[in-house]
Amino acid sequence: MPNTLMKVENLQKDFSIGILSKKKIHAVNNITFEIKKGEIISLIGESGSGKTTIGKLILRLLKPSSGNIYYKDKDINLEYKDKRKYYKKVQGIFQDPFASFNPLFKIDRIFDMIFKNFIGESKNKNEKIRDSLECVGMNPEFILKKYPHQLSGGQLQRLLIARALIMDVDVLIADELISMLDASTRIDVLNLLAKICKEKGMAVLFITHDLSLGYYISDTTLIMHKGNLVEKGETSLVYNNPIHPYTKMLLKSIPDIGNKWNKNEKFLPEDINKKVEEFYKSSKDKKGFIEVEKNHNVLFSL
Ligand SMILES: Nc1ncnc2c1ncn2[C@@H]1O[C@H](COP(=O)(O)OP(=O)(O)OP(=O)(O)O)[C@@H](O)[C@H]1O
Ligand SMILES: [Mg+2]
Repeated sequence: MPNTLMKVENLQKDFSIGILSKKKIHAVNNITFEIKKGEIISLIGESGSGKTTIGKLILRLLKPSSGNIYYKDKDINLEYKDKRKYYKKVQGIFQDPFASFNPLFKIDRIFDMIFKNFIGESKNKNEKIRDSLECVGMNPEFILKKYPHQLSGGQLQRLLIARALIMDVDVLIADELISMLDASTRIDVLNLLAKICKEKGMAVLFITHDLSLGYYISDTTLIMHKGNLVEKGETSLVYNNPIHPYTKMLLKSIPDIGNKWNKNEKFLPEDINKKVEEFYKSSKDKKGFIEVEKNHNVLFSL
């Protein structure tokens, strides 16, 4: 497909438990999806379902146990031997923005290093820095002279987006990007991301627990449960016509303003796991991941 930037194919990551034990957990199990130019994809699932592991595999912070990841049709672990070249185009923003900046350097120095390490010296370096800061709604005069600890979490996350803009990245992996922001700043940062994607064709893999934010921002939704991709599709289709019992449960659990919480409605992990197992058992004649309508696929059996 011409617009495909990234392809994740049959991706698997197992972790050994304990040093001597041969026991393994399948953190990520046979996952396949694509990221297209300008697309915002949300990756949603319970804690421990494998979301961050997928992000780390794409960012080459982990090696897959099997399966492949392609960026522009090239296997990232085989053909991009020079990681720096890869990181010019594929970048990550993690939950804790404080950990992403060297605390000893002022912001202007940090941006200088980006040019030094990734872009090379450029005559209009200062102009590019100012433009990108203005684009994320920050005042360069104020920001560039600060140390990271003098800025708020929201300001640092905006800086990370500005960094991605300067580098003109193709794919941004945003793991719980806005979880530490207050509600109004969240919407600002989300709107900013959406605007950048539309204008610059940047794609974002938006990893989140928050279904409402996922609905608000994404074109495509991926739902993970216990390392498996259980439902994938155009966001409106997944939200309006959920098929997998885990997706159904997730959507039911969104608090609804105006409706009081029904105390009798419980979402215990054991109950959900049981329901999911029953679903796989009852639909085992359907093999694996099946298209239920155009742009909407569901895992019917393991
Ligand atoms: N380095 C590691 N060694 C061993 N197990 C790991 C390692 N990293 C992750 N895991 C395990 O893999 C599974 C998936 O973890 P992951 O961090 O991808 O989940 P997640 O969906 O991002 O969860 P959360 O929403 O809490 O961030 C978990 O069971 C976790 O304990
Ligand atoms: Mg995580």
